[in-house]
Amino acid sequence: MTDDLLVLDRLSLDVPAGRERRTLVEDVTLTIARGEAVGLVGESGSGKSMTARSVIRLTPPGARLGGRVEFDGRSVLDLPARELRALRTGRIAMIFQDPRAHINPVRTIGDFLTEAMVTNLSVTPRNAHATAVRLLADVGITNGEHRMRQHPHELSGGLLQRVMIASVLAVEPDLVLADEPTTALDVTTQSEVMAILGDLRKERGMSMLLITHDLELAAATCDRLAVMYAGRIVEVQPAEALTRSPRHPYTNGLMVSRPRLDRAVHRLPVIPGQPVAAFEAPAGCAFQPRCAHAAPQCRAARPELREISGSRVACVRTEEL
Ligand SMILES: Nc1ncnc2c1ncn2[C@@H]1O[C@H](COP(=O)(O)OP(=O)(O)OP(=O)(O)O)[C@@H](O)[C@H]1O
Ligand SMILES: [Mg+2]
Repeated sequence: MTDDLLVLDRLSLDVPAGRERRTLVEDVTLTIARGEAVGLVGESGSGKSMTARSVIRLTPPGARLGGRVEFDGRSVLDLPARELRALRTGRIAMIFQDPRAHINPVRTIGDFLTEAMVTNLSVTPRNAHATAVRLLADVGITNGEHRMRQHPHELSGGLLQRVMIASVLAVEPDLVLADEPTTALDVTTQSEVMAILGDLRKERGMSMLLITHDLELAAATCDRLAVMYAGRIVEVQPAEALTRSPRHPYTNGLMVSRPRLDRAVHRLPVIPGQPVAAFEAPAGCAFQPRCAHAAPQCRAARPELREISGSRVACVRTEEL
């Protein structure tokens, strides 16, 4: 018996592309313990969303999943449709970047919030209503009764994302998959919404996978961080250790290129070159063409994620650098 709620073991995902198949996620091994928050960080196209979606098998048409996904001791990839549905509606919830795209614009906020409780949890409409108002208060919306009668277009993006969080809390899931939940919001609202999500998650002992390309945000909210590049995880460390001493050259690049408020810099150093998706990765280490430390051995074989003094790093040069 382990304390791991979610286990991804060499997870891979490929999709059809013409006559071929394209790998989008490769060899992803990651665990999330009960009550733990893990941040999944990386540039655009690295496969973060596909990894999260694989957890509930919400993948593109024709996609093939490989490896193992285990949730609470059961293999998700082998679940029959009915149990998969139960998993998605009750135990694992997803929060997306754009709440507007996931709330029916013609129904009221009240309908949206009470629906899942009434249909999936068999709560009476009256009790669901009372719970919804209480949850709105939990996410900092005080005039709940009034908001319940409003439609999505009457609420700002920040308020709507709070409504989304309230809807997630309503079903009391064990795991929240939050895919860039605050990217569409302005900076102030971003930190407010993240703080609410972080606090409520802790209070309720929920686990979370937080996807973001904002390393700082992830570090402030999560216990551990995993860095993804070209469909693979290249580094995993406790959040504080990773930001203090990143071990993979890519993580280091992300660290130095992030904007800092406490230091006036003329231009931010950026990682040269463009990120690639898994199927575009060159031979050897996928990051090698952009890496300042690349050596001949980096072009020879794909580096495995190795355990190195408490961290996991996929770089053959870690010990020398
Ligand atoms: N429905 C799809 N069919 C085929 N390929 C897809 C599909 N969705 C995404 N991809 C490709 O899969 C790769 C990984 O995409 P993914 O959305 O997981 O990246 P991401 O890390 O979430 O990026 P972002 O930060 O931009 O959200 C990308 O190359 C993307 O173009
Ligand atoms: Mg994404």
